[in-house]
Amino acid sequence: MAKHIIGSVGDIPDGGRLALNVRGRPIVVFNRNGQYFALLDRCPHSGAKLSLGLLTGILQSDGPGCFRYSREGEIIKCPWHGWEFDIRSGESYCSPQSVKTRSYDVKVQSGAELEKDPHVAENFSVSVESEYIVLEM
Ligand code: FES
Repeated sequence: MAKHIIGSVGDIPDGGRLALNVRGRPIVVFNRNGQYFALLDRCPHSGAKLSLGLLTGILQSDGPGCFRYSREGEIIKCPWHGWEFDIRSGESYCSPQSVKTRSYDVKVQSGAELEKDPHVAENFSVSVESEYIVLEM
């Protein structure tokens, strides 16, 4: 698996997202409270760009008149027909066993770590004092 530096930590604000192409594949990277998650930016239903969707949460009910909203900012809703995906795993909220969009590992590494790492594929100048978002594909 190759590592790709997709930007500095400051490039995606908390609650934000960044859509980009990595090795010809559309990817969307989310920042959720300083944790980063990456999905293939293509809905498995009909191919819409998930990066254009609404970031929302889950509304659940244990019975009539009883609602609970949770996981704010962790569910991306497809802009075309509303299918919902967990940004942590790419799984569909309604059918996690059968519908998902691909997810990728993302981590934050310091410039000092990256300078020592011979496996970083992209040619990206790093500053040892900075932190970078690294996607593995
Ligand atoms: S294209 Fe995403 S729900 Fe239809």
